[in-house]
Amino acid sequence: MTRRVLVTGATGTVGGAALRQLKGDADGGKLTVLGASRSEKGAAKLQDGGFEPVHMDFDKPERLRPALRGVDSVFLVTGYTVDMLVQSKRLLDAAKAEGVKHIVHLGALAADDTPHAHFAWHQMVERTIEAMGFDWTHLRPNFFMDTIWEGFRRRPDRLVHFIGDRAGSFVSADDMGAVAAAALSDPDTHKGKTYPLAVEAMPFAEVAKIFSEVTGRSVEYRPRPASSLFETMTRQGAEPVYAKSLAEGIAAIEDGQLPLADAVYDTVETVTGRKGIGWKEYAEARLDQLPAANA
Ligand SMILES: NC(=O)c1ccc[n+]([C@@H]2O[C@H](COP(=O)([O-])OP(=O)(O)OC[C@H]3O[C@@H](n4cnc5c(N)ncnc54)[C@H](OP(=O)(O)O)[C@@H]3O)[C@@H](O)[C@H]2O)c1
Repeated sequence: MTRRVLVTGATGTVGGAALRQLKGDADGGKLTVLGASRSEKGAAKLQDGGFEPVHMDFDKPERLRPALRGVDSVFLVTGYTVDMLVQSKRLLDAAKAEGVKHIVHLGALAADDTPHAHFAWHQMVERTIEAMGFDWTHLRPNFFMDTIWEGFRRRPDRLVHFIGDRAGSFVSADDMGAVAAAALSDPDTHKGKTYPLAVEAMPFAEVAKIFSEVTGRSVEYRPRPASSLFETMTRQGAEPVYAKSLAEGIAAIEDGQLPLADAVYDTVETVTGRKGIGWKEYAEARLDQLPAANA
C-alpha cells in the first residue's frame, strides 16, 4: 500500500509549496498526498490544481480524526494566531488516535532557550510532538521571503520592516516546501532531525538594493521602529496576543538581542541536493507579479 501524507495549511504559503513539491511522488504513485482545506472554496482550488482535498478544520475537533484516517505522515502548519497552540494539540491528539507515525512541523528559527513567546510556542509544540512518541522532523525557518515579497508587490517603490539596520536571514516557501516534501516522503532518513532554514542573510537596505537592481525601479528601505509593530499589526487585524508575541521578537532583533536572527545554514542543499534560493533569484523569478512601472 502506498504511504499516505496529509499536508495541513495546504491552501497557504508553505503548505501549498510542500504540496506542489509532492506532486511528482503523488502522480508517480509513490505516495497518496492529501491537501487539507477548511473551506469548500479552498478544496475546489486544490482540486483544480490536481490535488486531492480533504476537509479539515483545526477548530472543528470532531472533523480531525476522519481527515487523518489511514495517514502515515502529517505536515503540521498553523496560521498566524495564538490558537496555533490549541490547534496543534487537537491535531496531534487526533493523529495519535488514528495511528499517524510521523509529524513534520513548521516552526520558527530561534535558540532552544529563547524567552520570546512566538518562538517559545513553536518549541512547545515541538516538545509535545516528541513527548507523544511520534517520529518527528522539525523545520525552523527564519524570515519568509514570500511574506516580504507580498508586501513589496503591493507597494513596489518601498520595503518596510521593523528590524532597523540589523541583518535578518531569509528562506523561500519553495525551499521550505522542498525540505518538507523530502521529510514527508522519506521519514526514515529525516526522523529525529531539526532543520534550521535560512539561506541568505543581509540587512533590509541590501534587500531593497537587490530589488532595485532586479526590477530597474528605485526601491527604498523604510525602516519603522519595532515599537510600532504591535500597533501596525493590530490595525491590520492581527490578534493582540499574537501581535505582541511577534513585536517582542522583532524588538529583540532590532536591539541585537536575538541569537540566530541572521544565521544561515546549508540545510536546503543537504536535504534537497540543490542550492537554496537567494533574493536575486527569488525576485527575478517573480518580476511578472509586479504592476507596470507607470501604472
Ligand atoms: N512569515 C514568516 O516570516 C515566518 C517565519 C517563521 C515561521 N513562520 C510560521 O509560519 C506559519 C505560517 O505559515 P504560512 O505563511 O504558510 O501560513 P499562511 O500562508 O497564512 O497559511 C495558513 C494556512 O493555515 C490554514 N488554516 C488557518 N486556520 C485554519 C483552521 N482553523 N483549520 C485548518 N486550517 C487552517 C489556512 O487555510 P485557509 O486558506 O482556509 O485560511 C492556510 O492554508 C506560522 O506558524 C508562523 O509562525 C512564519
